[in-house]
Amino acid sequence: MAHSASGQRLRATRLGRSSVAARLEHEVRLTAADFADSVAEARLRVAAARYKVEDEVRNTAGKLKSQVRKAADEAKARFSDDARFLKSWIDSPGRTGAVAPSSPFLARRMASYVDPQAQGPVVEIGPGTGPVTEALIERGIDEARLILVEYSPEFCDLLRRRFPRATVIEGDAYALSTTLAGHLTDKASAVVSSLPLFNKPPAERTELVQDAFANVLNPGAPFIQFTYAVISPVPRKGSGLKAQVSDWVLRNIPPARVWVYRRAKP
Ligand SMILES: C[S@@+](CC[C@H](N)C(=O)[O-])C[C@H]1O[C@@H](n2cnc3c(N)ncnc32)[C@H](O)[C@@H]1O
Repeated sequence: MAHSASGQRLRATRLGRSSVAARLEHEVRLTAADFADSVAEARLRVAAARYKVEDEVRNTAGKLKSQVRKAADEAKARFSDDARFLKSWIDSPGRTGAVAPSSPFLARRMASYVDPQAQGPVVEIGPGTGPVTEALIERGIDEARLILVEYSPEFCDLLRRRFPRATVIEGDAYALSTTLAGHLTDKASAVVSSLPLFNKPPAERTELVQDAFANVLNPGAPFIQFTYAVISPVPRKGSGLKAQVSDWVLRNIPPARVWVYRRAKP
């Protein structure tokens, strides 16, 4: 049957509308899929950012926690060192020579006169609880190069625990070369002393230092000593020693100075 012209137009119009509708529907689906993709991507980004923030918070909290723990441990160690020292002073004031360990400022000043590059071990006499030992290590002297001579058995136990690679000798530093016999394979690059020298007569102090220069130290190496006194703790007249002295280290109780002795003719 032949179609009328108006019927054909009507069909064409309907066909045109349905293809437009189909295209529109297709576009809408694509847009919806794009939108869903964007939403999923945005969710992933948000999740990644959240993990990063959580991670940073966890890291920072961890770091803070370990800093607080370290500070608490240090404070505890300092407190117990102070208590140990005070007990040692009560038991034997003359031998301990101070009511508290040296401050890190005095300890660092002592260590500053040791050349870490110089050959040979570093002999520390009267290390106590080890503040000067710590400063020597901080200065760059390998712990294994340290020979520590301490009279008190309690301090020796503590030093062995604290500095396991150092050589700790429980003995009398005033008989220095005898006490070091068998431990000193090379001559030393420095003797660092915290002994309370003024508790000994001048002749005994002189003997100690002369023994160190004759039998323990390398030529040119220093004997380093701190003191709270205003005069040289080592008698200098006729000693053949030259000396230099630091300014007062005020951040120590009581304030102290460091004397560095060397042979005038090494
Ligand atoms: C003034 S404290 C110094 C301790 C540590 N160096 C400081 O600066 O805190 C003196 C130290 O020398 C030790 N000492 C005293 N006479 C000694 C001796 N004859 N031989 C070895 N050590 C001695 C004491 O036991 C004490 O530990």
